[in-house]
Amino acid sequence: MSEQGTLTRRALLVGVGAAGGAGAMYAAMGALGLAPGAHETRPEDYVPPRASDFSLSGRGAAKVVVLGAGVAGLTCAYELGKAGYDCTVLEAADRAGGRNLTLRRGDRLPENGGPAQTADFQEGTYFNAGPGRIAPWMVAMDYCRELGVPIETFVNNNASAYVYTHGMKAPVRARTARADMYGYVAELLAKASHAGALNRRLTRDDRERLGEFLRRFGDLGPDLSYRGSTRRGFTAYPGTDDGVPLGAPGSLAEVFAAGMGRAITMDFGYDQATPMFQPVGGMDAIVKALTRAVGQDRIRTGARVTGLKNLPDGVEVTHTGGTLRADYCVTTLPPHLMARVPHNLGAQVTAALRTPVPVAAGKIGLEYGRRWWEIDERIYGGVTETDLDITHIWYPSHGYHSAGGLVVGYYNTEENAELYGRLSHAERRARALTQGKKIHGERYRADLRSSVSIAWHRQPHIEGGWVRWPSYEGAFTLLRCPAGRVYFAGDWLTHLVAWQAGAMESARRTVTDLHTRVVRAPA
Ligand code: ALA
Repeated sequence: MSEQGTLTRRALLVGVGAAGGAGAMYAAMGALGLAPGAHETRPEDYVPPRASDFSLSGRGAAKVVVLGAGVAGLTCAYELGKAGYDCTVLEAADRAGGRNLTLRRGDRLPENGGPAQTADFQEGTYFNAGPGRIAPWMVAMDYCRELGVPIETFVNNNASAYVYTHGMKAPVRARTARADMYGYVAELLAKASHAGALNRRLTRDDRERLGEFLRRFGDLGPDLSYRGSTRRGFTAYPGTDDGVPLGAPGSLAEVFAAGMGRAITMDFGYDQATPMFQPVGGMDAIVKALTRAVGQDRIRTGARVTGLKNLPDGVEVTHTGGTLRADYCVTTLPPHLMARVPHNLGAQVTAALRTPVPVAAGKIGLEYGRRWWEIDERIYGGVTETDLDITHIWYPSHGYHSAGGLVVGYYNTEENAELYGRLSHAERRARALTQGKKIHGERYRADLRSSVSIAWHRQPHIEGGWVRWPSYEGAFTLLRCPAGRVYFAGDWLTHLVAWQAGAMESARRTVTDLHTRVVRAPA
């Protein structure tokens, strides 16, 4: 917002407040999109800009230059386009999408400080190197619906996947790990309650209800002991006979010592709870659909921004392909990169852009010609959780029973991602295979067809998986307001960092602010 804009709005609000009291002032602030909470809307409350918003005012849609053709930038251009804004999107890379990256046969993956890799996958194999899953409440789902992107279930939680920690002699199936932890925790609580240890907190009725729940939760015996149950799984599942259940669990101390608390609660969070979803055929279906909707001709790839000037009547952007003038700019570049672009927005903005800390993240796609995880291990999608440096192994949630497929052999962050990032691709692969072999045995190495690894903190024009804010005040608040005619947007400006939904929500917020300003600007 320009200073003048701020003053005009402030003067208006002071006037409204004086005349009509705080209630009237807040109503006016709401109308201007300024009231606290005015932006904290649910996806279904969002009203996109419409061409008709201009019809009575005699104003026209403005010219907007969007920096970055990632999900935030594309969403900005798409939403502004609905009201006829003349948008140009500048993208430094040779493709749109940003971190929404799906690699297929023949795709080249450059890396800062290292050689490029080329995906040597079979036709039909793909690797979601960036985002891979969407929760149903996320606005990314609304965009899939609106843009006609078909979705399918992403299996986030699979009882047949494994848990493997340093405290274990051998990996166990997630169902076994859960049965044992729930079983022993339930036993402890049920016995404590039965012995009266909780009488100060519980009435007699409470105790009965708790006991009834814990017997189910832990599958406890009549004496409230956990001795294992068929929930642990079988070595031979029931069929014409009643099967061979896994043996008795380890002792309570052994089960607790395995340290699987993180592994068996991964999907407890609101953002990871099952079911989750993915676009059919690769996450970049969202990028392709947004690109089509924006218009390919509005997106200039290979155009790296080298300067940004906020002017009294517009903005000027210099890039490797020339200079562009527009009425407004929305920059969606990662903050740590935007901080390096010469601009005239002031030292405070630069300092604010340097505040969020880039977080390293990495993944490796391991392609196999045979779906051994399905055929030999009965794992159909889902995630194996480990405390090894690979952290997770993801099995594909599509292409079941087809000839081959791709397993994500690590998905790690912070120190583990930095460690893998420092290695060559061949070393990353060797390390990932050594770790995964502890869970899946020799076939994990022997059956490998091809692989690609990504270190997001070494990706040109991105340099990070996502960011971490030391605090959601100060710099965060500052950058959610425009600096003159320059607006900021991206998942990094939301409480949904590292989700496409964050990028989309931020884009909508910025579009609403910008459009409100344009509609209300003096004619
Ligand atoms: N959104 C990221 C994930 O799904 C953090 O793992």
